This record gives sequence, C-alpha cells and structure tokens, in this order.
Amino acid sequence: MAEMRVTPWTVEGKIEYERLIKEFGTAPINDELLEELKMLAKKPLPVFLRRGFFFSHRDLSLALKEYKEGKPFFIYTGRGPSGRMHLGHILSFLMAKWLQEAFGANLYIEITDDEKFLQKKEYTLKKTREQADKDILDIAALGFDPDKTFIFKDTEYIGRVYPLMVRAAKKVTFSTMKAVFGFTNETNVGLIFWPMYQVMPTFFEKNRALIPCAIDQDPYWRIQRDIAEGLGYKKAAAIHGMFLPPLQGVEGKMSSSKEESAIYLDEDAKTVRKKIMKYAFSGGQPTVEEHRKKGGNPDIDISFIYLKMLFEEDDKKLGEIYNAYKSGEMLTGELKDYTAKKITEFLEKHQEKKKSAESLVKKMMYDGKLAKEMWERVYE
Ligand code: TYM
Repeated sequence: MAEMRVTPWTVEGKIEYERLIKEFGTAPINDELLEELKMLAKKPLPVFLRRGFFFSHRDLSLALKEYKEGKPFFIYTGRGPSGRMHLGHILSFLMAKWLQEAFGANLYIEITDDEKFLQKKEYTLKKTREQADKDILDIAALGFDPDKTFIFKDTEYIGRVYPLMVRAAKKVTFSTMKAVFGFTNETNVGLIFWPMYQVMPTFFEKNRALIPCAIDQDPYWRIQRDIAEGLGYKKAAAIHGMFLPPLQGVEGKMSSSKEESAIYLDEDAKTVRKKIMKYAFSGGQPTVEEHRKKGGNPDIDISFIYLKMLFEEDDKKLGEIYNAYKSGEMLTGELKDYTAKKITEFLEKHQEKKKSAESLVKKMMYDGKLAKEMWERVYE
C-alpha cells in the first residue's frame, strides 16, 4: 500500500484522517461543534457535515462565537483550473453555499488560472485560462447569492490586489516557503511567490475568513495564520473536507488528471453508468452465491461511499442500503445501478442550471453588489 502523502499538489496512499489532524495540528469536528452549528445555522446540516465528510477545522468554534457576538465571518474558497471539474471538486463549493445560506455571509471565490501553469510543465497559460472560464460556469451553476458572491480570476484581478499581496509577501521568508511546501532549488520562482496569491483573499475583509476546502489546502492557512495579525487582520478559520475517493478504491483522491478515476460534471447518464459498472471498486463477493451467503462490505465499496458522502440524503434509505448490502440481500450490480442513477439525477440538474448560468457569472464577477464593490475598491 502506498505511503500517505498529502500536499496541495499531491495526494497519495491510504489517507489516515486522524493522523492528518495530529500532523497538521488542526482540531476534529466533534458532536459538540456540530450541535453548535445546528443551533446557529438557518438551515439543517447537509449530509457532508452530518456524516463526517468535513472532519477537521481551525478556529471554527471561534468564528461561531464571534458570529454570536454580532461579528460575522466571510467565506473564502477557490479552484485551480487544470482538467475538467469532477465530483470531488464541488464538495468545498457546496459547503461554501451552505455556509452562505446558513449564515448570510459574503463569499469570495478565487479562480487560480495561473497556479497549475506554474506548477505543471505540460500546461500552457492559455490552457489554464481557457479552462478557468469553463470552470466558472460550473461553479456559478451551483447557485450562490449573486449579490454576496465575488468570483475573480488571478490573472484578471492582479492589478487591483498587488499592493495587498506584496505587503503580505514581505512577511514570509523563503525558508518558510520551503518548509511548508517542500520547494527546492529547482522550483521556478513564480511558484515560490505564488502561495501569497492564495493567502491574500483572506485579507479581503477585516472580519475572520472561514475557508471550506479539502485538507490538502491547509498549508496555505498555516502561512496566513503566521502573518495575519502582524498585518492587522484575523487568523483564518478553516473547515476541512476529506477527499472523495477515486473510482478505483479508497486510496488517494478523485483526480482530474486520471480520466478513469473520476466522474466529471459534464458526463451523461450512459458514461456515468459505464464508469460505475466498470471501475467502481466493489465491497461485494466474487460470485452471486458467495455474496448472498457472506454479504458485502459497504465501508470499502466506492458506490456506497459516494451515496454516503453526497448522493443519498435520506438517512433511513442509506441505512437500509447498508444493511441490505452487508447481509447479501442487495447485490453489487443493484447497488451500482442505484448509485449511477442518483449521480445522474444530480448531474442532469446541474447541467440544466449550467445552461443559464452565464448571467450569474456576469453578476458574480462584475456587476452584482459585492463584485461591484470589489472592483471599485482601492487597495493600499
Ligand atoms: P483544486 O482546483 O485542486 O480543488 C478545488 C477544491 O476541491 C478540493 N478537492 C477535493 N475535495 C474532495 N475530494 C477530492 N477528490 C478533491 N480534489 C480537490 C480542494 O481541496 C479544493 O478545496 N489551490 C486551489 C485553489 C484555491 C483554493 C483557495 C481552494 C485557491 N484559493 C481557497 C480552497 C480555498 C486548488 O488548486 O484547488
């Protein structure tokens, strides 16, 4: 089994989430914190919170305490365009959407159309910038409040925020960057400076930023938390998600560079079904007879995991599937068929919304209330 490795650019091996909490120095999301969220939120908790997919945090309790005292937080998240967007990518955005609706917060979305160009030899800047425009349409289709959301592309907004970025960058040394990101003498200098762009939006407001992301993005917040107060801002809070696993099994993450590991947001019913049937790792037994006799293992079954993390909202139904699969009453083919249908249902709705998302994009990028404010703002 491959050794676990979790960095912003590589996720490999069997991910041990409790170990990550210890190694990264974050805190677990426990029942007490979930209760607190439930009490304060204007909406019921979504499945990915209820069922532990978002499992770790930094200063979430503090952000909630401040919220209670009338000091709101703002939400910040982002996307680094490379290949097409897949199911794994939208979890942080769905979390951001829920937080926005439950707490009425402003939301800032960074589209790092420069990041993967700097990071990967094979990408041209033209490619990452083109992919950015496609991704923005997917993101906008998820349906944020257009007057409280600002989506910006790095290469487009840079002229405005450069002053804020250099002020932050002056506080961070090369040795910190090396220690946090593992940069070497061979790393191009663009990439060495680049993390400051991902840190910078946490300074868009004097309020505390709350960042939904998968845990691979946490290194950025460590840097942010070192320098924020020295610059007159608050340390960022974060809420960390697990990785939606690849179709092949629970190791690593669904990744856009591996076509057969992922279900993409633009795929149709036929493709989704084919991928689930062919690739989705099964916790079932090799033959029907054996399965009926011994039962399957839903805990390692990728179809079941997808249902649990995102696609089956009904707790009762999920429990029934769990028991039926474990007892052997439900076969692998039946579980796969059900999962493929649930995913397709979700994707068809998404694709329909995407068709009319153009006007939302315009609002969230340029002429909605928050976007307008962000373009009029003078940074010092
Ligand atoms: P990117 O584009 O790699 O991923 C976008 C978001 O999705 C999360 N993610 C996943 N979550 C669950 N399962 C997966 N298989 C999976 N793969 C990716 C990522 O953690 C991320 O939250 N550098 C960032 C872009 C960025 C950003 C931010 C992200 C800029 N500012 C602020 C979070 C918060 C990136 O390349 O993400």
